[in-house]
Amino acid sequence: MLRFVKFIKGVLLVFPFTLIFYPFLRLFLFLSYFNKLILWIYKNRKGMVYSDFFSFKRDYNKRYRLYSEMVKHFGLADEPLLYLEFGVASGASLKWWLNANLNEASRFYGFDTFTGLPENWGGFYSQGDMHHDVPVTSDKRAIFVKGLFQDTLPRFIDAQKEILVSPRRKLIHMDADLYSATIFSLSQLYPYIKKGDIILFDEFNVPLHEFKAYQEFTEAFYIQLKPVAAVNNFYQTAFVVE
Ligand SMILES: C[S@@+](CC[C@H](N)C(=O)[O-])C[C@H]1O[C@@H](n2cnc3c(N)ncnc32)[C@H](O)[C@@H]1O
Repeated sequence: MLRFVKFIKGVLLVFPFTLIFYPFLRLFLFLSYFNKLILWIYKNRKGMVYSDFFSFKRDYNKRYRLYSEMVKHFGLADEPLLYLEFGVASGASLKWWLNANLNEASRFYGFDTFTGLPENWGGFYSQGDMHHDVPVTSDKRAIFVKGLFQDTLPRFIDAQKEILVSPRRKLIHMDADLYSATIFSLSQLYPYIKKGDIILFDEFNVPLHEFKAYQEFTEAFYIQLKPVAAVNNFYQTAFVVE
């Protein structure tokens, strides 16, 4: 059997007629991940602390309900947090968390180019969209790190090893929309992610972006993430590391 498979593979390499499918690769990939997403949702939709599945109304502000549920469930209002947000834009979500956690020792790092998306996202957003000035806040616990994650995150990790390995809980908020940014950031942070840390995805149910990054991250690193809460039919989904 193995010899047969090797033979067929050899034939296809010499006579690559499978290239007739090339124009449809993105479609096949989309269908593949959309099906994986559907199965994932049906396997995980029950037993969560909070979920609105299935809801006809998509309302972006529901994400604040999700955050509140997480604060309540994990008692996040008072504990010293290391909050890392990837994709800050105007700072709306980061500021929500600044107001929700008042522990003086907490630190809130917000990473963004602030010049907008580094590449097109889906069919609707172009490179450069979502650019914003670095947010302004009087809260000294907030620190903004400007630049591509691919440049700034390795430097941040080198400089902040102490806080990254400290026992405090990390809340990693992935809101960069893009597959590339999400898989890169999670892979870089993997050595510092520990049981009890929380990972929030802002666009979890987008098949070829955050969902694909989630799938590959969990498969490649054998990391167990338990879904805890979700809104907008898993568009925003929160996990705890097991
Ligand atoms: C949806 S916005 C963030 C929204 C924000 N969290 C909020 O609450 O309003 C996505 C942001 O991710 C940033 N981004 C995406 N990929 C990035 C990368 N590789 N490096 C730095 N920033 C990136 C974009 O610049 C954009 O501002």
